[in-house]
Amino acid sequence: MNTKKHALVTGGSRGIGSAIIRELLGLHYEVWYLSRTKNEELDNESLHHIPCDIADREEVERTLKAIIEEASEIDLLVNNAGITRDGLIMRMKDEAWDDVLAVNLSSVFLTCRAVSRIMARQRSGAIVNISSVVGIMGNGGQTNYAASKAGIIGFSKALARELAARNVRVNVVAPGFIDTSMTETLAEEAKELIKTQIPLGRMGMASEVAKAVAFLASEDASYITGAVLPVDGGMAI
Ligand code: NAI
Repeated sequence: MNTKKHALVTGGSRGIGSAIIRELLGLHYEVWYLSRTKNEELDNESLHHIPCDIADREEVERTLKAIIEEASEIDLLVNNAGITRDGLIMRMKDEAWDDVLAVNLSSVFLTCRAVSRIMARQRSGAIVNISSVVGIMGNGGQTNYAASKAGIIGFSKALARELAARNVRVNVVAPGFIDTSMTETLAEEAKELIKTQIPLGRMGMASEVAKAVAFLASEDASYITGAVLPVDGGMAI
């Protein structure tokens, strides 16, 4: 009998999502990940790439239906996919707002709606949504991103209350300044300036975010729901 736990991860082709998948595979999960491109670093018989544009509502709904039919049970959902389209509010284009809200927030609604049905039926499960320190503190030039990430926090707290009676836990990880392709485009000077605002004095690693996700997913976190766990070197203190 296959007793592996089943996890569904959005994004996952690289960066934090890739580290989360690596961690989950190490914990013997069977992992399905939804992203447009395949993860070229990870090759494992327990890993399944599902090509999907998370911003496309119909594609997401169709894809989730197929995964849920195949997996039959889902123990863990991690909403990791995210983008930035930075700009000052006065010059922000409608598309920059719509794209960020679609990828970062509406996708969370769609996946949680589909997966909560199956978790409620199972009377077990964990959902971990990836927000950001920016959703807590705000950041100039990122009104769209901050709105999406703060939205994830409110959404997750409401969902935690809704699903608690069914033994489904919903938590949030709020990373700070993590070394991935999302941050590598920043100028060296900007990076140095940000580091001065981090009490631990350095950028975080994707693996450090993955450890927090794995903890919240695990039985060790069985009495934790509706929580926001910063993984930010103290940035949001
Ligand atoms: P990344 O740019 O390296 O990876 C983003 C992931 O999202 C990729 O796997 C990509 O395939 C996926 N993705 C983007 N648009 C998609 C779409 N339309 N359909 C399907 N998948 C899509 O970024 P990183 O740093 O790994 O970010 C992961 C999460 O962590 C994001 O939600 C991000 O907002 C969040 N985060 C990152 C921080 C950082 O400093 N790197 C800080 C705080 C939060």
